[in-house]
Amino acid sequence: MTRRPIMAGNWKMNMLVAEAEALVNGLKAGLDGTEEVDVVVAPTYASLYPIAKVLSGSSIDLAAQNLHWEASGAYTGELSAAMLLDVGCKYVIIGHSERRQFFGETDETVNKRLKAALAAGLIPIVCVGEVLEERKSGRTWDVVGGQIREGLDGVSRSDAEKLVIAYEPVWAIGTGEVATPDQAQEIHAQIRGLVAELYDQGIADGLRIQYGGSVKPDNVRGLMDKPDVDGALVGGASLKAESFLGIVKF
Ligand code: PGA
Repeated sequence: MTRRPIMAGNWKMNMLVAEAEALVNGLKAGLDGTEEVDVVVAPTYASLYPIAKVLSGSSIDLAAQNLHWEASGAYTGELSAAMLLDVGCKYVIIGHSERRQFFGETDETVNKRLKAALAAGLIPIVCVGEVLEERKSGRTWDVVGGQIREGLDGVSRSDAEKLVIAYEPVWAIGTGEVATPDQAQEIHAQIRGLVAELYDQGIADGLRIQYGGSVKPDNVRGLMDKPDVDGALVGGASLKAESFLGIVKF
């Protein structure tokens, strides 16, 4: 089974519109479209529409960093799936650890967002991962497996086929402490096994599982060499064209 790698840059709360435009222009200049990789950028909400215009006609796809599950209404500060599609998004990140840590995101809200994204035709990138104490106490798989079971609860087989899952150990995010390729592979293989159990082997074999957490141009190759690592969700190193291109061209 060959899975097309997917490299996504999560810009988090960084960059004004002009800076974001300069970055994607740099990415466009560095890619010739022959890369056998899906390339995705996730700017802030404020930059989505202007960046969609700069990306138009390029091979780079647009993602949002979150969405709300309701279609419209009195939800101050939120955006719906239809709004994200309207400004050109193809993907949406759901359940990032910073959403879970700082904004009260739970597996239940992840599940609601996931279903809303799928119903609207957005491709979800669902983030899971353990914190350091959970790893130290040997509970990594309990935590990650639970996040997947609950996050995907009630998601149909045909929808599961569209998913991307990002395994992001929280202790590796923004710390410079990347998981070893073997640590990533171990959990990725378990995630694939669980998806086979929840759906079937065909869905599991097609599922793209990204690793995230301090991915850099100089450590991406070792991660991508592992059979169950299908891409990366990149924070810090996605904010400079040179380093993100180094990851895309691993
Ligand atoms: P990082 O962030 O690459 O800066 O560690 C990864 C992420 O949060 O997706």
